Amino acid sequence: MTAIVTTARTTPKSANAVGVPVANSGAVPRSLGLSRAALAAHGFEGKAGQTLVLPAATGPTQVAVGIGDAAALTPQVLRNAAAALVRAASKHAVVSTSLADLPGVDAATAAQAVAEGGLLAAYRYAGIKKTPNTTALTELVLTAGEARAKGVATGAERGTVTAAAAYLARDLANTPPAHMNARHIADKAVEVAKATGLEVEVFNKDQLAAMGCGGMLGVNRGSTEPPRMVRLTYTPRNPQGHVALVGKGVMFDSGGLSLKPSDGQIAMKMDMSGAAAVLATMGALKALKCRTKVTGYLMCTDNMPSGSALKLGDVLTFRNGKTAEIHNTDAEGRLVLADGLSLAVEDGPDAIVDIATLTGACMVALGMKMAGVVGNDQALVDRLRASSTATDESIWQLPLEKSYRKLLDSNVADMRNIGGPYGGVITSSLFLSEFVGDVPWAHLDIAGPMAVDGDDGWLSRGATGFGTRLLIDFALSFAK
Ligand code: BES
Ligand code: MN
Ligand code: ZN
Repeated sequence: MTAIVTTARTTPKSANAVGVPVANSGAVPRSLGLSRAALAAHGFEGKAGQTLVLPAATGPTQVAVGIGDAAALTPQVLRNAAAALVRAASKHAVVSTSLADLPGVDAATAAQAVAEGGLLAAYRYAGIKKTPNTTALTELVLTAGEARAKGVATGAERGTVTAAAAYLARDLANTPPAHMNARHIADKAVEVAKATGLEVEVFNKDQLAAMGCGGMLGVNRGSTEPPRMVRLTYTPRNPQGHVALVGKGVMFDSGGLSLKPSDGQIAMKMDMSGAAAVLATMGALKALKCRTKVTGYLMCTDNMPSGSALKLGDVLTFRNGKTAEIHNTDAEGRLVLADGLSLAVEDGPDAIVDIATLTGACMVALGMKMAGVVGNDQALVDRLRASSTATDESIWQLPLEKSYRKLLDSNVADMRNIGGPYGGVITSSLFLSEFVGDVPWAHLDIAGPMAVDGDDGWLSRGATGFGTRLLIDFALSFAK
């Protein structure tokens, strides 16, 4: 991360731009030096996310930042407002804003949201170029008086950690597939684990074979690049419960012999976004003093066609002994997750959450801005929904409709790996549910929100890191 978040009592001399929060009614902060009528004449009404840049002859540029209805202020509004400020002040290195009078949101929550929004909007994938992509922002200063200083400092620190985690997930998913294969992400996981006090185990192809992970091996069969499974463990003192996170890490999904058309392959370097979110989440837990024990599984392999590739009609045997007949090699995510979920169950967690860019069907159902959530335990799904609201990473529940299970029936194996043409989120979830036993489990299908085409608020073009902040919030708030 290039920019840092600092806190101060008053606007520092070094500030190049100063954001001034303005509600849609009531008094305009005097520091702006403009009346509401004057602002309105420039088309600025204080609507949430609106900005008006006011260059000054001397001193820093002022930026009026709309926060909408002051009585209905939420962390979401503040996160968006901070992103709008950073984008409006995109030429400036040091951007300062006051959190002194933001009613209704406590200082720490407000500061975390502002830090996240500002940093996430400043994200650029550096790229592999002579002149890397950059942003001007080097420092975001959050100012508040004595009374709120402690809360603001705490929130700024938390927001820095969660934004850095999202940066990591974005970087991993934006990296081209030759630069980010299964071995690369496993190396990265070891590095993250060392830096953040996690236990880490990396399993290679032979070890996966010995463990009976037929899903991982089957998907990997067409690839010259070996698979990796990574288990990360975070163990706090006196844990308040144990959750397992399982991430789909298909490093490139060509579809295998059920080859995707060219247009369908271009984004498939990001088919490891679930594993990226799990790794990034794990790396943030210690800094945030998480009280929950968390085990993370990264299920990493390419899905490629070749003379040795998995064939249609083949039957794979997974870690838990169940089998699947392959009817489409492009439905590979569920095959690697099957082994991951089976292993997660063996650890005896209180809950399992998997996260995967699993189906185009989820994009059809919910569009690109929200993930699907399906589970066997409503209380767990509700916890995830609460974390979704807190982090503004939208999810929407779809049902685990048991009567659709017959769509997966096979004559030669325990199930087929695809259902019919309809209800793809439900049938893929039913497939996954075969591997979780009685453990409370929920599945996040992030195919839609894994990436955005262009900058949009705190989302920056490319991989979004979706699910990272949501899973961090979930882990922090989990209690048995
Ligand atoms: N990785 C894809 C799903 C995907 C598509 C994610 C587009 C993000 C953007 C997944 O492995 C896949 O190919 N799913 C198939 C399943 C089908 C064959 C049952 C799909 O959705 O078409
Ligand atoms: Mn696929
Ligand atoms: Zn895939």
